[in-house]
Amino acid sequence: MTTTTMTSIPPLNLAPMLVIGAGIMGAGIAQVAAQAGHPVLLHDAREGAAIEAKAKLAKSLDTLVAKGKLTAEAVAQTLARITPVSAIEEAAPVRLVVEAIVEKLDVKRALFKQLEGIVATDCVLATNTSSISVTAIANGLAHPERLVGMHFFNPVPLMKLVEVVSGLQTAPAVAEAIFELSKVWGKTPVHAKSTPGFIVNRIARPYYAETLALLLEQAATPAVLDACLRAAGFRMGPCELMDLIGHDTNFSVTQSVYEANFYDKRFVPSLVQREMVDGGLFGRKTGRGFYAYPNDGAALPV
Ligand code: NAI
Repeated sequence: MTTTTMTSIPPLNLAPMLVIGAGIMGAGIAQVAAQAGHPVLLHDAREGAAIEAKAKLAKSLDTLVAKGKLTAEAVAQTLARITPVSAIEEAAPVRLVVEAIVEKLDVKRALFKQLEGIVATDCVLATNTSSISVTAIANGLAHPERLVGMHFFNPVPLMKLVEVVSGLQTAPAVAEAIFELSKVWGKTPVHAKSTPGFIVNRIARPYYAETLALLLEQAATPAVLDACLRAAGFRMGPCELMDLIGHDTNFSVTQSVYEANFYDKRFVPSLVQREMVDGGLFGRKTGRGFYAYPNDGAALPV
């Protein structure tokens, strides 16, 4: 392996890359990257998850072909660029890794440490963490300067914003390379510092917290809350949004922002959400959250 100080990085356009985590976000990131022309390896710790994610993507892109929004040829090219892999060792030649696994510091740290033994030292390592300190994730790496936050929003193909999050040791050239890549992908990047929740999730915490407090007080049902916020001009109500994000992820984000702010009462996690997480009611991805989602269909009140 070569050594690098990451002072200048050739553009990452079209670079072969690895996406780790084939869940809600990883599948979306793989789609956007493949549509932009990157050969993408897609890996998930759960056997078969990457293959399932690709099959699901094929189905949703076919719908867009049927609607005349994409050509069959473009879809075939996109899908041909995505290769599910069962071992991350297969990713040795990639120049970029985007991690979108479970929102747990120790798990992310362990994964990046493992990756350092696989990829070259000039490979950029990006994390899609929603809330965990990028500085903390980089702690213990041989080359912490190449780790950066690349925080997408859900659904990845539609949401323009990308927070490019620099930790204390992130090399400016690494943040800049990800910023430029996000623009090439048609996104609107912003630079952010590694503060708890970064920008959007910091602002969003009280919004979810008040929603959950209203539910705990039984002031309104999820359907009423969502109808109110939609009528006020929001594209989605807060309950359907939490169902889309996933309550497991949303709860982890709140916990991490709460802890990172020295247990500031403003960020206390909600008992309502903990109960749902404990019950496996994660939202759309498990078929039930505030609403039921039979066969991925329309949301039904429960
Ligand atoms: P998800 O639960 O849909 O998918 C996570 C995937 O990672 C699962 O398929 C799981 O099997 C896999 N995984 C877990 N540990 C792994 C490991 N050690 N190695 C390989 N694969 C592993 O979660 P989601 O929603 O896609 O979130 C992923 C990351 O993206 C989290 O850090 C989350 O905070 C962040 N994020 C989530 C957003 C959302 O709206 N859901 C929005 C922006 C960021």
